Amino acid sequence: MQEKKTFYITTPIYYPSGNMHIGHTYTTVAADTMTRFKKLTGYETYFLTGTDEHGQKIEKKAAEAGVTPIQYVDKIVAETKELWKLMDIENDDFIRTTEDRHVKVVQKIFKQFYDQGDIYKAEYEGMYCTPCESFWTATQLVDKDGVKVCPDCGRPCQPMKEESYFFRMSKYQDWMIDYIEQHPDFIQPAARANEMINNFLKPGLQDLCVSRTSVKWGIPVDFDPKHTVYVWIDALSNYITALGYGTDHDELFKKFWPADVHLVGKEIVRFHTIYWPIMLHALGLPLPKQVFGHGWLLFGTDKMSKSKGNIVYPGPIVARYGVDALRYYLMREMPFGADGNYTNESFLTRVNADLANDLGNLVSRTVAMIEKYFDGVLPAWDDAGFVEEEDKPLQDHCAQLPTLVEAQMDKLQFSQALTEIWKVIGECNKYIDLTQPWILGKDPEKKARLADVLLTLAECVRFVGVLVGPFMPKTPARIFEQLGLTDDSLKTWESLDGFGKLPAGLKVKKGEALFPRIDIKKDLELLAGSADAPAKAPEKKPEPKKEAPKEEKPVTEIGIEDFEKIQLRTAKVIACEKVKKSEKLLRFTLDLGNGEPRTVFSGIAKAYTEPEQLVGKTLILLANLKPRKMMGELSQGMLLSALDDATGTLRLLTVDQPDDVKPGSEVG
Ligand code: MSP
Repeated sequence: MQEKKTFYITTPIYYPSGNMHIGHTYTTVAADTMTRFKKLTGYETYFLTGTDEHGQKIEKKAAEAGVTPIQYVDKIVAETKELWKLMDIENDDFIRTTEDRHVKVVQKIFKQFYDQGDIYKAEYEGMYCTPCESFWTATQLVDKDGVKVCPDCGRPCQPMKEESYFFRMSKYQDWMIDYIEQHPDFIQPAARANEMINNFLKPGLQDLCVSRTSVKWGIPVDFDPKHTVYVWIDALSNYITALGYGTDHDELFKKFWPADVHLVGKEIVRFHTIYWPIMLHALGLPLPKQVFGHGWLLFGTDKMSKSKGNIVYPGPIVARYGVDALRYYLMREMPFGADGNYTNESFLTRVNADLANDLGNLVSRTVAMIEKYFDGVLPAWDDAGFVEEEDKPLQDHCAQLPTLVEAQMDKLQFSQALTEIWKVIGECNKYIDLTQPWILGKDPEKKARLADVLLTLAECVRFVGVLVGPFMPKTPARIFEQLGLTDDSLKTWESLDGFGKLPAGLKVKKGEALFPRIDIKKDLELLAGSADAPAKAPEKKPEPKKEAPKEEKPVTEIGIEDFEKIQLRTAKVIACEKVKKSEKLLRFTLDLGNGEPRTVFSGIAKAYTEPEQLVGKTLILLANLKPRKMMGELSQGMLLSALDDATGTLRLLTVDQPDDVKPGSEVG
């Protein structure tokens, strides 16, 4: 028998410093959806997730809670496993970095690196951020009111000097650049590959500090026990230790390594596409086929994070709307790779529009019409097998749907794959309007035609039922039940190889609405008190608004033709005043050199408490932005400003020699 093709996918191992939230859920659901899709299409899959349990932060959290580190993480790990169960996550393994099977192999790997000269001992001198467990070089620190602070969290760093082991990353720099350039699929989305090469590799790769003497909660370096293995060698190795690499039981490793894809948030792409490949290369192992850096679920403009206390937990949402609604939303709302905003409103709107209206209505209308016109029994196709002009486009489109979905899934474009499915759903709903079954139903001579129309719809529903399964595991069974479909062989990927397989005689059964319509206004009030609020009290710390380090920002490449759509102009400030009744807005009157002063409102009042001082300055205006009514007046354009994301300071862009360019000059 031919062996099945294999597919190995991983999530990052999460820090169990607090409970997992919707952001961690996002990655985990994506990995689960992909695994289920690969399983559906005939692969032997392996899906690994887990927790990254060592380090100073956990040590500190445990001390604060008055428990030992292992007691602290045990509790969160148990809750994490419960959450994954709630989200219908079917991982094959859950690796914990405190497990013996991991610890032993990490020690072995560390020793091998040392023996072969990849690791050396030296003195580390640098600035250290305790909450982030990160060393920073002087140039990486950010100046905040004269204090050098961590570029990640904005908190002060301390000078630190200690004996450490270092991994000779620099030795592999050229090899790494070459590898990335030769393997364009290795880092996805592709723009992230350019970031890695230009921001980290070409400027010169630093050797990496891989041990600490001051952190006790870590894996001891067995040949020098005052050191513990520091962060990344420990964490990244999980992807192979979980498969039994380096032990006598390495069957899984032999079968599944190299991984097909590591899914990671964009902030840790660097570790997975530079340090991890170099470590693997040093071990003589093949590299993962792909690392996909996805975007963040933002909350407003902030990354949702434990330390900011702006967390959404899945529990209350799942309890009220079901796990499939949340999984659908997470996979549908934003393209995989880009950032997106979580809001209760966008969630509820999507559930109503896509699930209650589009999908729910299609299933219930189809079943209701079969009940009404054929006593609930699926009729046979018209003997003539005749397909009318109006059936053909829909039937052909539906027959192609599996291929269209697979093409998107192969690129991990979950949202696009769902869009393809929803195009067919939309077409079905239009087809009902076009064929008007309620009119056909009035004419006994049109019975055969009516049968074909309803069969076409029911068959489309079967296709949709199979294809939504990886995204919404509970929904297919509910759809098939309403269709009266019991034959499992018609619920498979293979059964979608041709249109029109639904057998006559199935007894359909109208059930509950798949996704009941939501009263959005009412539910928004309800959720404001539950889902947005963390299940546990947030550890709210006033912190400067901070995203990831600069280089990790999402990069969307645009062509020059996109840029040409943007009209930037210099604009001289004629007047600027605070807007009464608004804390945020300033009202600008601008000269664009054409004799028609422009009014522009800008939400920067907090940054400029003496707005009159801006009069006479030459600023940069996005001049062709659609006008918007604000405070009863039209605001025509947007002034450009720069935001220091470490401190939240905002400053307007100006022209450095304003007298040399007249107002209204083109900027480009
Ligand atoms: N322990 C490291 C990873 C080691 S992997 C060898 C770590 N852990 S973490 O708990 O901070 O989790 C990071 C991962 O959680 C991100 O890379 C991302 O996959 C996911 N997310 C956490 N918050 C998120 C959002 N707000 N949005 C999307 N994903 C988020 O880093």
